[in-house]
Amino acid sequence: MLRIGLLTSGGDCQALNATMRGVVKGLSNNVKDLEVYGFEDGYKGLIYGNYRLLTAADFSGILTRGGTIIGSSRQPFKLMRVPDANGLNKVEAMKQNYHKLRLDCLVILGGNGTQKTANLLSEEGLNIIHLPKTIDNDIYGTDLTFGFQSAVDIATTAIDQIHTTASSHGRVFIVEVMGHKVGWLTLNAGIASGADIILLPEIPFDTRKVCDAIEKRHSNGKKFTILAVAEGAIPKEIAKLEKKEAKKAMEKIKSKYPSISYKLAADITELTGYETRVTVPGHVQRGGSPDPFDRVLSTKIGVYASQCILKQEYGIMVASVNNEIKKVKLSECAGKLKMVDPNDQTVQLAKFMGISFGD
Ligand code: F6P
Repeated sequence: MLRIGLLTSGGDCQALNATMRGVVKGLSNNVKDLEVYGFEDGYKGLIYGNYRLLTAADFSGILTRGGTIIGSSRQPFKLMRVPDANGLNKVEAMKQNYHKLRLDCLVILGGNGTQKTANLLSEEGLNIIHLPKTIDNDIYGTDLTFGFQSAVDIATTAIDQIHTTASSHGRVFIVEVMGHKVGWLTLNAGIASGADIILLPEIPFDTRKVCDAIEKRHSNGKKFTILAVAEGAIPKEIAKLEKKEAKKAMEKIKSKYPSISYKLAADITELTGYETRVTVPGHVQRGGSPDPFDRVLSTKIGVYASQCILKQEYGIMVASVNNEIKKVKLSECAGKLKMVDPNDQTVQLAKFMGISFGD
């Protein structure tokens, strides 16, 4: 008998179900006796012993279904060693529930924070496999995360649709793209949709340079300008500050404006006189079905994970490296962030064709 646990943690994304389907189909096609336990709502289910036995039927017809059939929640890594309100030791509780079910392995789907707890559980002696999920694509050790490409598609469509209205009205438009502290989603959706200006957290922007780029376009006869702005974009003068001071300065902006994009829009209007609007697609970027690319990537990742389980290879993340699915040691990637390198070829080529990064 092989017993595995599944858990999805952190912000959801497309292809979580497709990935779990890959794991379970890979196992059930090769193992006679299999039990799969789904922990409900991420680590919360593992801590408090909320789980259900899943059957083959649960994994049928879910390749295209967005979200996660077992639910998710955010359980910050930094609080994992802190007892809960009733004094419960969360790490011990997770270990006990794992052992109570006599699991051979726990497959954990999640992003950076999730990965840190996965590594902690691995260090505590549990058999763990982490599968890299996030629309942010910021997990160190893998070129791609599932969910990313589907989110690029949605953000691209959002910017495409803004193009027509921006051009009719001759307006400046900011589309704020998700991505937390990194700019992968903005960079890719920005290029895919022909944005004129792309602002990323990794390349702090100078508002004057952004305005210069807008004015240059307008003096070349263009009536409108589209900016793809990462939610984590940061002005140059703030990026120069000490971490604490920078945090304070960003909090001050957010006390006055809903996000950095609205502050930038106000500054653009003040400095150039151009009417500027902001559109925030928000969680739409995480919703709906995985696109075909993500369906293939997540299926490969899931099935590869099933092979690792059969070979008893644990303490790993299943990654996509140079277009090949591989295993990477959890201890080598946990706690690291994969950011856009400002010297990255994609950034340099975009700059060469005239896209401004506001630097
Ligand atoms: O990590 C995925 C993500 O969608 C980020 O891009 C975004 O900053 C964050 O989650 C939003 O989190 P929440 O769903 O908790 O508002």
